[in-house]
This record gives sequence, structure tokens and C-alpha cells, in this order.
Amino acid sequence: MTQSDTKRILVLNGPNLNLLGMREPGHYGTATLADINDLMQQHGKTMALDVDFRQSNLEGELVNWIQEARNNFQAIIINAGAYTHTSVAIRDALLAIDLPIVEVHLSNLYKREEFRHKSYISDIAQGVICGFGGRGYLMALDAMQDILSE
Ligand code: DQA
Repeated sequence: MTQSDTKRILVLNGPNLNLLGMREPGHYGTATLADINDLMQQHGKTMALDVDFRQSNLEGELVNWIQEARNNFQAIIINAGAYTHTSVAIRDALLAIDLPIVEVHLSNLYKREEFRHKSYISDIAQGVICGFGGRGYLMALDAMQDILSE
């Protein structure tokens, strides 16, 4: 396998996802973000995917990383946390770079408060995975591998 066969995927996590493991385990489970990222890294390797991870509590930082992804990555997996339900800026940045997107949420948004049912990302993503806890990120990686090899 050559270097050029390797696809680069940016995994973005938004606000409060740095607290996974201790934050509302009934909704988000007990695995930390580092645990999830390790599993993704390992899983990515088996599919020749080079996976890079970033987390921020700041909307503008997420926007900057999305803009920078245009030249450095082939795809984005994003859990924008609460910004999912509020951020036109993140939506616009994702539209601007025109890379395939898979949206992930640990919890099943549709079993929760109504304000979580609205996502500014879902209709511009290739697909959405929610309600499967940390495993959803691995499912997103599988989905992205299929999308990139189509
Ligand atoms: C979340 C769901 C959001 O509504 C919430 O604000 C989060 C986490 C999830 O992964 O289930 O921070 O994106």
C-alpha cells in the first residue's frame, strides 16, 4: 500500500466532549474521549485511514479547523456537541469546504429534549449516527471508508 492510498480523516469534537467519562454517564457512557480516539486510531489503521483528532469548547476554533481541513483531509467526522443545535457558523464552514461529512452523537437525540432534535449539520452530511455511544464513532469510520471508496 502506498502513502497516496492512505486517506486522511479529521475527527472533530465540540464543547464538553472533553469531559466524556465523567459527564452525564447515563447519556454519554463511561469511556473517555481518549479511549474513543484510541479505538478509532486502531480501527482506522486496519482500513488505511489516517485519523486526526481535535476537540474544542470554542466555536471559532472549530470553524478554523474546518476551514484548514480543505487542503489537508479527505473527510470530516464531527460531533459538534451543543453547537449542533445552534451554529450556523459551523454549518457554513462545512458547506465551504465541500468534504464528505458524517455526523455523530453518542446519545439518541430523538429520545431527548426537543431542542436537540434540530441539527444544523444533518442535512448537509452524508449520514448521521446517533444513540450508539462511543461505538458510533467506529461506525462513522466504517461509513466514511465506504463513502471514500465509492
Ligand atoms: C451530543 C448531544 C448534544 O445535544 C449535546 O449538547 C452534547 C453531546 C451527543 O454526542 O450525544 O454535547 O452531541
